[in-house]
Amino acid sequence: MTGINVALVGVGNCASSLVQGLSHYSNGGSNDALGLMHWDLGGYRPKDLKIVAAWDIDRRKVGTDVADAIFAKPNCTTVFCDHVGKTGVKVEMGNILDGYSDHMADYPDDRTFLPADIKAPSKDDVVKRLIESRTDVMMNYLPVGSQLATEFYAACALEAKVAFVNNIPVFIASNPEWAKRFKDANVPLLGDDIKAQLGATIVHRVLTDLFAKRGVSLDRTYQLNTGGNTDFLNMLNKKRLASKKTSKTEAVQSVAQFRMEDENIHVGPSDYVAWQNDNKVCFLRMEGRMFGGVPMNLEMRLSVEDSPNSAGVAIDMIRCAKIAKDRGLGGIVYEPSAFFCKHPPVQRPDDVAFAALEDFIAGTTKQ
Ligand SMILES: NC(=O)c1ccc[n+]([C@@H]2O[C@H](COP(=O)([O-])OP(=O)(O)OC[C@H]3O[C@@H](n4cnc5c(N)ncnc54)[C@H](O)[C@@H]3O)[C@@H](O)[C@H]2O)c1
Repeated sequence: MTGINVALVGVGNCASSLVQGLSHYSNGGSNDALGLMHWDLGGYRPKDLKIVAAWDIDRRKVGTDVADAIFAKPNCTTVFCDHVGKTGVKVEMGNILDGYSDHMADYPDDRTFLPADIKAPSKDDVVKRLIESRTDVMMNYLPVGSQLATEFYAACALEAKVAFVNNIPVFIASNPEWAKRFKDANVPLLGDDIKAQLGATIVHRVLTDLFAKRGVSLDRTYQLNTGGNTDFLNMLNKKRLASKKTSKTEAVQSVAQFRMEDENIHVGPSDYVAWQNDNKVCFLRMEGRMFGGVPMNLEMRLSVEDSPNSAGVAIDMIRCAKIAKDRGLGGIVYEPSAFFCKHPPVQRPDDVAFAALEDFIAGTTKQ
């Protein structure tokens, strides 16, 4: 079995954790499985993943080896692997489009994006590079609100017949037109909006399901999140947030016993706190009524490093995209999308999605 060639779009904190993780888990032994959901997934181990191409727009990253770019400012995630070997792959200038929000210019250089003054690649340039590098899977890690930029790279992946994993809340897999384009071209598509390993979304969903299963009505809830990375800084521009709010809110609504009125559910990024860096803190409150209509409430605080929290999930999504490709499957890959993403084309409760995912990996999905 050959390895999996991966292209990165956006070499920010999430990409940093992913690339660090590939070195961390590179010895490939089964004792090296701590923190992974799957050590061997469909015959692929983390050490089988290789970065073969990367695009970014920041002048501190473009032109440098991926192994250096992942530690360049404004990336601020924790360094859990400081021995990332040179990849031999230089970060190339990307197509900015709507990847950069003007408000980012109001912040200090170390905290914000600094776009490089280099000509953007054309679609043909990106397609050519994907083909030359024999990329199997493209990972979309653009900032929230990058609708046009995501569509640009998704179109490149389609043309180069490269599987596309959409980690961000721009709707591609859950947009029927894009889903059809990938189906017609027989290219795998996974998304949208990666769900972290143990983050606010999965915890909120599991607790919502618990309320439903224990007969407790969920009347009101909020999930407030703060963080100090560029993802949170970018999201200070509320105009970029519409799909993020939909994605995160629907992830909770879809497992509630009864849909809450819009004014009774508030889920989303809440503020940028610079000193938190890549630490994300979630404050969660759920109010309900139990036996006899007697009120109860629950408060929870979750503190996680944001980017490593998504990297193990990313490693699994990449491997699922590759096994779909190996099996000649094109279009939406439903099972991993439902388990690994906040806004998949079809929402399933997490236990149902997990069972379906394991069937998909084993190749025993009933059509
Ligand atoms: N951490 C998680 O658990 C998690 C969960 C769900 C979704 N996400 C999403 O993943 C995405 C990436 O997150 P991150 O923390 O790595 O963000 P980040 O801000 O650290 O990285 C974004 C990178 O994209 C680059 N970029 C901007 N425009 C570009 C363009 N047009 N072409 C190429 N590169 C461009 C930036 O220079 C930057 O390096 C975000 O949209 C985030 O919301 C993350």
